[in-house]
Amino acid sequence: MSARMLDGRALSKEIRAGLFERSLRIRNKGVVPGLAVILVGNDPASKVYVRNKSKACDECGVMSKIFSFPGTVSEYELMELIAELNVSNEIDGILVQLPLPGHVNVRNIIGCISVNKDVDGFHLYNVGGLVVGGTIFPPCTPYGVQLLLEAAKIEVASKNVVIVGASNIVGKPMALMLLQKGATVSICHIKTRDLSLYTRMADILIVAAGKPGLITADMVKNDVVVIDVGINKMSDGSITGDVDFDSVKHIASWITPVPGGVGPMTVTMLIENTIRSAELRMS
Ligand code: GUN
Repeated sequence: MSARMLDGRALSKEIRAGLFERSLRIRNKGVVPGLAVILVGNDPASKVYVRNKSKACDECGVMSKIFSFPGTVSEYELMELIAELNVSNEIDGILVQLPLPGHVNVRNIIGCISVNKDVDGFHLYNVGGLVVGGTIFPPCTPYGVQLLLEAAKIEVASKNVVIVGASNIVGKPMALMLLQKGATVSICHIKTRDLSLYTRMADILIVAAGKPGLITADMVKNDVVVIDVGINKMSDGSITGDVDFDSVKHIASWITPVPGGVGPMTVTMLIENTIRSAELRMS
């Protein structure tokens, strides 16, 4: 038996059609939803992500503006721009593409974004909202994973969910969101002693470690649901996840492909957050 696919591309297409309708309703009232994206430096992956976000905005009727800075930009210059965007009537969402160069303190920069425009959900206020069960803007990747599970009617309450990777962007917020839904959540990370002890317990395994082929068939139990958040560029130019898809798909009940799984959902949820921000502004 082969696992069923959690097709993020197809689900994104469906959600984006709905987002276009929502954006149209806002536009008909004279407001164009707008996203500002701040890109610092020349990281090729960041450039691709930003281009994808901008394309998705076009598709959903959201205006996007990209502000590009050289890697030498100062914290002050970034803060000045964010202060302007915070009060701009054209902008509903502000996103600072990460990573930032080492001399720029990420916490300082994200902390300047108005919590009402923090469509990435990275501001400490929104992070705190996740902890106590309710946030204005859920972070996009965990939000996308949650919708993929919901669309496939995969219940998370009472399930053993194991998350591999404890990043602030994916692992930690994902854990909080699923805890809120009643899952029993374990987070594994670089210092976890026996990774497979945990992964074999998982009813739902979410992998966001950035290590191609980290999870192999012998590390999972029958009928596990596997969500692969990894996006790894290989030397031949191909993109692969953190899970050995070809072997694990024979054991899992559901699995996300890479590409075409979580990736498109992340971008779609960013647009959702931006449109919701515009709706909130008008209400
Ligand atoms: N870099 C990698 N993922 C993300 C993300 O979701 N948002 C931002 N702003 N930067 C990222």
